[in-house]
Amino acid sequence: MKVLIGLLLLFFGHDVSSVIHSVQVFSTASSGLSTFPEFVMVQMVDEVQVEYYDSNTQRIITKQDWVDQANRDKVPDYLEKATENRKGEQQVFKRNIGTLKQRFNQTGGAHIVQRMFGCELDDEDDTTDGYEQHGYDGEDFLSLDLKTLTWVAPVHQALTTKLRWDHDTARKQYLKNFYTKECVDWLKKYLSYGKSTLQRTERPRVSLLQRSPSSPVVCHATGFFPNRVVVFWRRDGQELQEQVDHGEVLPNHDGTFQVSVDLNLTAVPQEDWGKYECVVQLKGIEDISILLDPAHIRTNGGDKSLILAFILTGVAVVVVGAVVGVFLYWKRNDSDKRHKPLGSFDTSSENTEVQKPSPEAQPLTTGQS
Ligand SMILES: *[C@@H]1O[C@H](CO)[C@@H](O)[C@H](O)[C@H]1NC(C)=O
Ligand SMILES: *[C@@H]1O[C@H](CO)[C@@H](O)[C@H](O)[C@H]1NC(C)=O
Repeated sequence: MKVLIGLLLLFFGHDVSSVIHSVQVFSTASSGLSTFPEFVMVQMVDEVQVEYYDSNTQRIITKQDWVDQANRDKVPDYLEKATENRKGEQQVFKRNIGTLKQRFNQTGGAHIVQRMFGCELDDEDDTTDGYEQHGYDGEDFLSLDLKTLTWVAPVHQALTTKLRWDHDTARKQYLKNFYTKECVDWLKKYLSYGKSTLQRTERPRVSLLQRSPSSPVVCHATGFFPNRVVVFWRRDGQELQEQVDHGEVLPNHDGTFQVSVDLNLTAVPQEDWGKYECVVQLKGIEDISILLDPAHIRTNGGDKSLILAFILTGVAVVVVGAVVGVFLYWKRNDSDKRHKPLGSFDTSSENTEVQKPSPEAQPLTTGQS
């Protein structure tokens, strides 16, 4: 996990000037979990959540006004159509779990099917990319290779689905068009409507926190936007790789983000603390740095309510972060190759739906998966 986060930081973090826009859709179906809806679908634009659907409410909740406007502009009765589509997806995913349990010889227990798809647009050279990946119980199951229009099956339980989908020419053409054109058109639409929100900069508030005198000192940055932030510790001006533990960038409830980076000071005598500082970089603002001065550190002993607030925020963020967790899981694969979406895994089932990022939700009913 640490390695993964490190890679992510490299991937996002150290390229604060990159201008890759994205639309992403995450679907998660589960069985055997009492506290989580059977089906959840979340859509993000530039890593900002714009839409949520779950099987408990069977309703789409839009999180941004500009998304409603963009949707209506593209498809006047978007909400009805998309809701019907989500309900259909819910059924397909539910069947897929049953199919996969059989293929893996499982009878009970908790199981999760995930799908992620989306597309990206590079602002500078206008190149685009698309991907669709499916996972089962946290492992890769199937992914689309958009270049060759074939499915990649890393486990033998996915082979029958791969073969069927590879032979479904009509659906492959649909997917190609979807990921190279339709998805990108949606993304551009969202970007133009969401411009003022997505292109804003909100400055982080940075604090140093410490739970007990022997705990690491946490450099906590919160309230920033966008999420492409770089936070690191340095000593005598040199960025530290050791002694440092990078947390994930997590969403706050108000649409901003937060991140923590721990510094382990076990082996550092207090007289050397003045050589350390935490640095926060966000595109569009001047770097913020905060010196490791015991007087700057908020501790449990000092401001209890602040620490409590910090912890509570953390708890809230874990909940919101479930979405991000899914994202992180996929993002790992993302850095080496891109993939695409699909429908029902069940050979006998009659329809396959492919969810579009947003809209008109017409079920793509070609191949039986
Ligand atoms: C599932 O069970 C069947 C019969 O018991 C066996 O032949 C098969 O190899 C098992 N498959 C897996 C994936 O364990
Ligand atoms: C901090 O570093 C020391 C070694 O210098 C190590 O023994 C300890 O486990 C580390 N603490 C944490 C919380 O990582």
